[in-house]
Amino acid sequence: MKTVNIAILGLGTVGGGTYQILQMNRELIEKRTGRTFEVTKVLELRKDRALELGLREDQICSDIEQIVCAEDVDIVVEALGGIDMPTDFMLKAMEHGKSVVTPNKAAVAANYDKLKAAAEKNGVSFRFEASVGGGIPALTAIQEALAGNEFTEVMGIVNGTTNYILTKMTDLGLKYEDVLKDAQEKGFAEKDPTADVEGIDVANKLSILMTLCFDKYVKPTEIPREGITKITMEDIEAARAKGCKIKLIASAKKVGDDVEYSVGPKLIPNEHPLAGVSNEFNAIYVTGNAVDELMFYGKGAGALPTGSAVVGDIIAIGKTL
Ligand code: HSE
Repeated sequence: MKTVNIAILGLGTVGGGTYQILQMNRELIEKRTGRTFEVTKVLELRKDRALELGLREDQICSDIEQIVCAEDVDIVVEALGGIDMPTDFMLKAMEHGKSVVTPNKAAVAANYDKLKAAAEKNGVSFRFEASVGGGIPALTAIQEALAGNEFTEVMGIVNGTTNYILTKMTDLGLKYEDVLKDAQEKGFAEKDPTADVEGIDVANKLSILMTLCFDKYVKPTEIPREGITKITMEDIEAARAKGCKIKLIASAKKVGDDVEYSVGPKLIPNEHPLAGVSNEFNAIYVTGNAVDELMFYGKGAGALPTGSAVVGDIIAIGKTL
């Protein structure tokens, strides 16, 4: 049986979840693909974390060169977070002939063209399904199963942390600060949750969705955005009185040859499918000129749901090796 060797950069929430899934479902994946997927190396400075997950000391690296130069690495999973350093690591990996998988929406949104071009130039794969909507396989669907459509609109709830906070404030009357802490403990939030609550994370994800749906790249920093920090219980009650829920919505719509886009809290009528998307669940709602309206729904954050999308990408690449 062919072995596909993987290196994981960063064993945080998603890197750890990815490792866990590859162990937990090893036999099933082998049976389905006819390949063994082995994590041969990890880049992780917290040795304890790596050992705790079951890695051996000799697999733990502290220098990216140990990974990109290694012969026993076919696919590099970048799960470090951040923008510049992870982008450099991904480019370096591709230059050394490694395919790359990442859940890192900030790096993909900031450097999409550079990363795509490097993959093409070096004849390797670059996949980033987990970067939008966690476990929801919407990006692959948009690029493959729905590739026969002209998209006219894409909108959705694409941040688990803020949706979790808004849900608990709306349904249980809990305080913003308490729920944010809870979301952080559950591993939904970014290291610096400002990116979640100020809509920065959603802008990164909308930038990626627009690139794929409309072939239009807009820098995340150029997307008009508002987060949820100013939402009060009074706002939530006022929305309820109107038969609505407040949701943090990413939206982009074709208007003639142009695309209008924004990120911000919106009143969603209770009967709209997006109003029923609660807690850390996400939903991506696309309209195509053939398929019409379509909604993808699932967990948008968390170790295993997001790891599921990373592992899907690893398998897709592994099957081509
Ligand atoms: N912090 C992100 C969220 C993680 O809450 O949705 C998944 O991208």
